[in-house]
Amino acid sequence: MYKSDPIKEISLQSNALLSTAMKLINQNAQGICFVLKGKKLVGILTDGDIRRAILKGYRLDAIISKVMRKNFLSMAVGSSAGDIQKQLKKVDFIPIVNESNELVDYASQLRFHHIPLAKPILDGNELEYVTDCINTGWISSQGKYVNLFEEKFSEFTSSNHACAVSNGTVALHLALVALGVSPGDEVVLPNLTFAAPINAVIYTGAIPVLIDVNKDTMAMDVDDLRRAITNKTTAIIPVHLYGHPAPMKEIMDIAKSNDLIVIEDCAEALGSFYEDRHVGTYGDAGTFSFFGNKTITTGEGGMIIFKNKSTLDHAKILRDHGMSKHKKYWHEYVGFNYRMTNMQAAIGVAQMEEVSKFIQVKQAIAREYNKNLRNVKGVQLPGNFGNVINSYWLYTINLPVELTSYRDNVLDSMLKDGIEARPIFIPISEMPPYKRYINKDRDYSVSTYLSKSGISLPSSIDLTKDDILRVSDSFIKAIDKVNIDN
Ligand SMILES: Cc1ncc(COP(=O)(O)O)c(C=O)c1O
Repeated sequence: MYKSDPIKEISLQSNALLSTAMKLINQNAQGICFVLKGKKLVGILTDGDIRRAILKGYRLDAIISKVMRKNFLSMAVGSSAGDIQKQLKKVDFIPIVNESNELVDYASQLRFHHIPLAKPILDGNELEYVTDCINTGWISSQGKYVNLFEEKFSEFTSSNHACAVSNGTVALHLALVALGVSPGDEVVLPNLTFAAPINAVIYTGAIPVLIDVNKDTMAMDVDDLRRAITNKTTAIIPVHLYGHPAPMKEIMDIAKSNDLIVIEDCAEALGSFYEDRHVGTYGDAGTFSFFGNKTITTGEGGMIIFKNKSTLDHAKILRDHGMSKHKKYWHEYVGFNYRMTNMQAAIGVAQMEEVSKFIQVKQAIAREYNKNLRNVKGVQLPGNFGNVINSYWLYTINLPVELTSYRDNVLDSMLKDGIEARPIFIPISEMPPYKRYINKDRDYSVSTYLSKSGISLPSSIDLTKDDILRVSDSFIKAIDKVNIDN
């Protein structure tokens, strides 16, 4: 866990020593501590107060009640955000107290301006199109927006055959089933990813085969892929992680020479290109997610682009309970209800009107981070490894090996600055439901290292240059502290 108790970390009892206060202020990196008697707030002490006290001749074993400030601004629980923000123009920290003068929280500029990891931007035509669904009563999966969303998505990715579904996980499952992956087949996929692809493979009854990843691209390692193929292998699922494309040329060569299906998991890679084509157009299918933190969102939602029209038609029948397109309530297959609603698609259509801008902004955010962080020693920055265009869904960096054990301290320190940074995925091979699929002879050292060292920095489309600078400074400060403390 890297979340901590914010009050505990910023407060001390009034009989504590100056040396203890110095330590606490050093740890909390806020430059201040609140002084309590029991739970009651009796004073505040800043690093400047301590410096001045020492210059006056106080020793480190003096008690802090002798040097704390007794006159300070506090505000009552329930004060309005507007009032607190007004006061924060005058002071950096405001303790919040209850009617018994007990400290219950505190406000600061940083806490007021929290920077989330990735938030949806819904300020285009989303509301208008969803209102249209409600006004016309087309709120389920029929109505014009589903087709429109599929058309716009096909056009954007230059693929001819798109199928909207309820989320990115069922997109993978539907693609696997539509392409004929069956129980007992082996499906090769990377060990470093979100768990959706392995779950989808398990739903089909096929056997997932986990392989290691490449240190730069974080996508599946092609040498490992070659070694993993057996006569039971029927499919490969490359994942384009954090927006960086997997090496599709090598993967497609291996697939062709072994007659294998390829399903590209593009959940994190809308707007990413491998050579001159959008990801998802190399394999037999490419799947996408529109969860709230993705490059475009429909709340929950997903899309599959298929290479062949015949597979698309089959998938559309399976998506709709396996029902015949020609005979009502005649089920040709054991199908699924994986349909997307017209309301989700309405949001999707509005998001597609903005998608090019969103992707350009993500790439500009990455350039800004690269500029701010390029001199941080030992930290690996993301980039374009090979002839690719990274869409930078989440700007993700890796700490050097010697700092991996401090990764969570860095996250913790940034959280105190009001910044939500995220550790990267845990290798699939380390989690209990999947341990049975691990091949003991296989080496997962790269996914293990990346998982311990990786940090995704805030990447929302509405970040300002100042926000990016604040995140970068907070990260650099956290790294400096780790270096000094060690
Ligand atoms: C790589 C990857 N694949 C698949 C999914 C699943 O998508 P969804 O959450 O829409 O089911 C996600 C994530 O959210 C993902 O990151």
